[in-house]
Amino acid sequence: MKILVTGGAGFIGSNFIRLILEKYGDYEVVNLDKLTYAGNLDNLRDVEKDERYRFVQGDICDPQVVDKVMNGVDAVVNFAAESHVDRSIGGPADFIHTDVYGTYVLLEAARQHGVGRYLQISTDEVYGSIRDGSFSETDILDPSSPYSASKAGGDMQVMAYHTTFGLPTLITRSSNNFGPYQHVEKLIPLFITNAMEERELPLYGDGTNVRDWIYVTDNCEGIDAVLHEGEVGRIYNIGGGNERDNITITRMILEILGKPESLIKRVSDRLGHDFRYSIDCSRARALGWSPAHDFESALRETVQWYVDNRWWWEKQKGEEFQEYYKQQYEGKSE
Ligand code: NAD
Ligand code: TYD
Repeated sequence: MKILVTGGAGFIGSNFIRLILEKYGDYEVVNLDKLTYAGNLDNLRDVEKDERYRFVQGDICDPQVVDKVMNGVDAVVNFAAESHVDRSIGGPADFIHTDVYGTYVLLEAARQHGVGRYLQISTDEVYGSIRDGSFSETDILDPSSPYSASKAGGDMQVMAYHTTFGLPTLITRSSNNFGPYQHVEKLIPLFITNAMEERELPLYGDGTNVRDWIYVTDNCEGIDAVLHEGEVGRIYNIGGGNERDNITITRMILEILGKPESLIKRVSDRLGHDFRYSIDCSRARALGWSPAHDFESALRETVQWYVDNRWWWEKQKGEEFQEYYKQQYEGKSE
């Protein structure tokens, strides 16, 4: 089987490529990635020499590039996206372009090439916030941010290509991932690395917002299960079952690193900040999948990974990042 993975130089995509190459000795992977600020070939150093793996730098919004890489492909797994809510508030255009238009370009090429399976990687954020209970795959979409609205737009194109053209599509919607190789601007890596550097941890609002955290390889196993066993035309929620509020996560990180709570700095809340995400994952579990990691020990392992791999994240915190950081947090203390 030859799989086209798009956005494979990012956090989840790189973990997924590693899993596929390890698990299936006869699979080939082509990784198409634009290498935006979030794409990082360091994430795949250990597999770059594998002869079953090929990297192509290119944009999913470019039909010519996409047409070329789609040749002889059996399945497409689309991770490529602008993925950070805060950046989508600062500037939605790239999100709409990549997450909606780019998805369309991939779908059209998959149709032209008669690809056997097209799997779209989506997010629980498309359902919006929920106070009590959990969303299932048939619930309406009610996205809050330009990011989640763009992801919802991509999902709609996927569903339309299935209904109209019979393209064998699948969608996974996962909860918040954490683990090795996550970009330092996202909550858990930002707070781990800031704490290591004795810098403040900018916590939005009162810190009571709840996310359901999933260890990244548990999500990748779920994606693999859906890719191989999922019913075409269907959507599968993939959650970790680890709902925690942000202040709890923050305190856990500080406790693991032996750093003081005085590093926590309350900053003004994110605009449109969803209070809680929660998804019902019984459909994915019916495929035989379930998350294997215990949250507390996976968080400890993740902290240890960032402690052991300073070479990986210190580069990310260069000038460009400091500029972003200033704009995002400076003068916003509560
Ligand atoms: P990421 O930002 O770490 O990686 C995104 C990758 O896509 C990068 O390598 C980037 O270079 C590439 N990319 C961006 N625009 C591109 C384009 N136009 N053409 C080709 N490549 C492009 O993101 P991630 O956290 O790994 O998320 C991967 C996917 O999973 C995204 O679709 C995201 O919406 C979804 N998702 C993420 C989470 C999470 O917690 N991280 C949760 C649910 C769903
Ligand atoms: P994030 O990692 O951006 O994921 P998402 O917003 O897509 O769920 O943020 C996770 C939670 O952490 C979210 O409730 C916002 C909060 N947060 C902070 O409090 N401070 C920060 O600096 C960041 C990046 C996030």
